[in-house]
Amino acid sequence: MKLISNNLRATKSIAHNIAKNISKYNIILLQGDLGAGKTTFTQYLLRKLGVKEVINSPTFNIVKQYHTKNLTINHFDLYRIADESELVEVGFEELITLPNSLSIIEWPAIAKHYIRGQILNITISYNGDGRVFNMEEENV
Ligand SMILES: Nc1ncnc2c1ncn2[C@@H]1O[C@H](COP(=O)(O)OP(=O)(O)OP(=O)(O)O)[C@@H](O)[C@H]1O
Ligand SMILES: [Mg+2]
Repeated sequence: MKLISNNLRATKSIAHNIAKNISKYNIILLQGDLGAGKTTFTQYLLRKLGVKEVINSPTFNIVKQYHTKNLTINHFDLYRIADESELVEVGFEELITLPNSLSIIEWPAIAKHYIRGQILNITISYNGDGRVFNMEEENV
């Protein structure tokens, strides 16, 4: 499915619609160039899911964990991961397989072999000043 987002309000509405169906997924993969809007989307989604804390980019810590009433949420940014062994150091597989967890992964390519579950693949592309969201479900 393809959706156009010409402003932040549209990105927020895409995130809110996904929040309604969040129980279908345990993994959301976010692909797209630098500044495409992966973290922005994640902020809207997690806020809607009930996260009260500040939601910021986990670029330097690789992963930041949040808790809501129903879910443990892991927000990963794998941009700085250069080698698969570093995934082991952050406990990647243990984190993404935690019960009642949702993992949102920016820059997921390096972790491709480790990712299993009910996946929502989102690719955000630049479209003039706006963005296009491409979304595909995948069970691996
Ligand atoms: N339609 C839109 N949807 C989302 N973000 C938008 C949109 N239009 C403009 N922006 C802006 O684009 C920027 C997206 O930054 P963001 O940090 O979310 O990107 P990112 O994909 O996470 O980047 P990185 O790869 O560095 O982690 C923000 O400054 C946001 O305000
Ligand atoms: Mg980001």
